[in-house]
Amino acid sequence: ERLWLVVPAAGRGRRMGAALPKQYLMLTGRPVLTHTLARLHAAFPEARLCLCLDPDDHHFDPAWVPFTDWRRVNGGAERADSVANALDAIALEADAKDLVLVHDVARPCVTVEDLARLYAVIAEDPVGGLLAAPVADTMKRDDGAGRVAATESREGLWQALTPQGFRYGLLRRALAMAPGCGVLVTDEASAVETLGMAPRLVAGRRDNLKITHPDDLALAERVLAAQVA
Ligand code: C5P
Repeated sequence: ERLWLVVPAAGRGRRMGAALPKQYLMLTGRPVLTHTLARLHAAFPEARLCLCLDPDDHHFDPAWVPFTDWRRVNGGAERADSVANALDAIALEADAKDLVLVHDVARPCVTVEDLARLYAVIAEDPVGGLLAAPVADTMKRDDGAGRVAATESREGLWQALTPQGFRYGLLRRALAMAPGCGVLVTDEASAVETLGMAPRLVAGRRDNLKITHPDDLALAERVLAAQVA
């Protein structure tokens, strides 16, 4: 069995409000994408990479990719479409039993330790799983007008992080089925859940943040600095 890495990087990053997609914004003097790929490469130097990019993306530089075996794949309308495109692109090479780790390009602070721990768990798990962190804050639902409509129990709630890892055959089937299920598929685990399976929750570091808003860049710089210290 082989290991494939799928990195969805075809988002337009509208919430950032920046001129550049967020994977090209500078983090400690180099693009976010180079940090993310460097962490993945440090953990899995022999893995094969599928990088999902917008077909109109002219900012990308192939020199930023540290992997020897990699391919560029066109992104789709939604994140799940980008990942499905990547799985389609490797259909002739991949075996159903191969492991696929999907990791957001926008999560450059993932550590090699968390990557290795997730891999060790899912390599032995019949379903697969994801890095996740228990919810620490009290959760409020709004009434649509800036007031609290309800307080939701945080008991047993986890934040889904990435990577998320599953066998190639299972993940491809799940992503193909999910659109017809009427559920919002914002991660790989939710697609697998529509098949009635229960992915493993692997406790990961809370500082594996997703760069979404402009403030997150400064926060990520502090996280990276603290991790090497
Ligand atoms: O928008 P969001 O932060 O949830 O995106 C998560 C990841 O999915 C990002 O790495 C983004 O580049 C990627 N994405 C994609 N194709 C899309 C939308 C998002 O590859 N159509």
